[in-house]
Amino acid sequence: MSTTTTTTKIFVTGATGYIGGGVVNVLIRHPDFSSFEVVTLVRSEDKAKKLRTLGLKPIIGGYGDLELLTKAAAEADIVITMVDSDNLNAAKAVLEGIKQRFEQTGKPPILIHMTGTAFFMEYANGLHGNSERVYSDLESDVIEAIPEQAFHRNVDVPLIQADKEGYAKVYLICPGTVFGIPSGPIAELEGVQHTLSMQLPFFFKVALDRKRPGYIGEGKNVWPAVSIHDVADLFALIFNKARGDQDSLGHGREGLYIAENLSYSVEEFLQLAGQTLLELGLVDSAEPNALTEEELTKYFGPIWPALATNCAAKGDRSRALGWNPAHGKEEFLNSVKEELLEYLKHNKQ
Ligand SMILES: NC(=O)c1ccc[n+]([C@@H]2O[C@H](COP(=O)([O-])OP(=O)(O)OC[C@H]3O[C@@H](n4cnc5c(N)ncnc54)[C@H](OP(=O)(O)O)[C@@H]3O)[C@@H](O)[C@H]2O)c1
Repeated sequence: MSTTTTTTKIFVTGATGYIGGGVVNVLIRHPDFSSFEVVTLVRSEDKAKKLRTLGLKPIIGGYGDLELLTKAAAEADIVITMVDSDNLNAAKAVLEGIKQRFEQTGKPPILIHMTGTAFFMEYANGLHGNSERVYSDLESDVIEAIPEQAFHRNVDVPLIQADKEGYAKVYLICPGTVFGIPSGPIAELEGVQHTLSMQLPFFFKVALDRKRPGYIGEGKNVWPAVSIHDVADLFALIFNKARGDQDSLGHGREGLYIAENLSYSVEEFLQLAGQTLLELGLVDSAEPNALTEEELTKYFGPIWPALATNCAAKGDRSRALGWNPAHGKEEFLNSVKEELLEYLKHNKQ
């Protein structure tokens, strides 16, 4: 008697990213990995060579190679996108491929996309930490009403529309600030994975340049945060349910999964970063103070108001799936020094 194993074809973008590396580790460690064909979009042959050693199948290309994105998506049962939550052209190219796959197979492919909580943000100029509203990922009507002009919605809305039209099952993972030092198979490949968060390095760079940590306004603005490992765990839950038990998993407009487990202010992490920088002799004062208007323009340009916002969001839908994030405020605060040291390794003073 012969047995046949069906191959699950998975196309991943952003596999070498800060978040993406952790997500791909979930695939590599998955009990069904031997039946997966994991195609990863990679920009360099050097990274591709290293990813091949883990049993992945890199294709060389960028997010601007729209035909390549369409072709790769058209060959996949599952697509995971983690490069750029604002790139509409790339999203459309991926959707085009997914539609072609649906037309060939009659089965809607799964799309798991990394978005972020920035569309909830409220401008505060760093002066306070009180959000007018705490958004829950269960509030589908409220989220649906957020316009496409808000961060990430230009991409999220068409993805949800594809789900409504029935040719894709779409799941959106929506983290706040992601923190922690990556580990696992992708991180162990020399020079492959991005090792720094998106938010903290902005302020490390400023502190080193002006020899004192600096915040916007009073640095009181507050954001939700989640560890890189807890994001990977949430991905694993969604991935497994989407493959096996789709009825128990909201998708499309009911398929936004917020990842958060603590909140923090800019002032809080700058206090800690300042102490470490002073111990290392890299600043004259550990105590953060307000950046002048001139400094705001110099360091951040026109985006500075976005860095001084509040954001309040709850992952109720994520937790209802059984997601139980393990890393809280203490781990976040500990990660500040770790990440600063990692930043200094890559940015020699
Ligand atoms: N980090 C956070 O706190 C956070 C929070 C919420 C949402 N998000 C969203 O999650 C996504 C991933 O974030 P991240 O922090 O993991 O980003 P990241 O560390 O900068 O990783 C970006 C990934 O995309 C790849 N990439 C970048 N530009 C590309 C291009 N033009 N063509 C092909 N690949 C390209 C990078 O490849 P290389 O190795 O070649 O550079 C890397 O694999 C983003 O959309 C981000 O907005 C992030």
